[in-house]
Amino acid sequence: MKIRVFDNAHDAGVYVAALAEQVVERQAKPVLGLATGSTPIPFYQALIRLHQCGLDLSNVTTINLDEYIGLTPSHPQSYARFMWENLFSHVNIPETQIHLPNGVASDLEAECIRYDEIIRKNPIHLQVLGIGVNGHIGFNEPDDTLLSRTHIVNLCPETVASNARFFQHIDDVPKRAITMGVQAILQADQIVLMAFGREKAEIIAKAVFGEVRTDVPASILNLHKNVTVVLDKDSASELFDESGVLRRK
Ligand code: F6R
Repeated sequence: MKIRVFDNAHDAGVYVAALAEQVVERQAKPVLGLATGSTPIPFYQALIRLHQCGLDLSNVTTINLDEYIGLTPSHPQSYARFMWENLFSHVNIPETQIHLPNGVASDLEAECIRYDEIIRKNPIHLQVLGIGVNGHIGFNEPDDTLLSRTHIVNLCPETVASNARFFQHIDDVPKRAITMGVQAILQADQIVLMAFGREKAEIIAKAVFGEVRTDVPASILNLHKNVTVVLDKDSASELFDESGVLRRK
């Protein structure tokens, strides 16, 4: 794992956008795996700026990690709407090349199979991840086992509580989601795990330096050959030794 620590989330976002640009320029049909939540916003802002400076994204396919069950794509808190507002409405990725799970599909099991088929047909070149305070990636929550395929998940109470900041009331937060499984994440050519803020410091230390354990889902990234962990100083604060030197992975 490579670890890159930036002064702030803005600078980190610029770095991740530069990594995405390399993929977009090198691949004939680049595929980006994307996340929602607060963490990737500086990356999306930097990618939008790169697009305004001339980066063409018309060949890009995107595959998002997850979506809440029960929210239509137009719901203000759906991840589809989040992606539209924070990225897609500002760049030239054709709508037909944008993929998110459908959280209101009438047959959710069939929806998981449909989504795995999309991932199979469009192998991901660069997967961008955030991390939950409990170590989840996508919505692969801590458990005795981690599921490899796209699946329906019951969100942990701490995930519901953490995501309540986007809703008027905690009772409005959906308790279930569809998430890409860990196999699709690990099959990406390159993975970038982003985390900002002091509240992520402890779980980042566990994920980066701890053993691989299913109750710390992000630790599974240690099994991948090309992972870059992109942090600000706060989220990296538990990775420094007593003399203030960044421990090496
Ligand atoms: C969202 C996702 C989640 C978030 C994680 C961190 O698509 O996959 O794993 O990345 O919950 O969320 P924030 O960035 O809001 O702290």
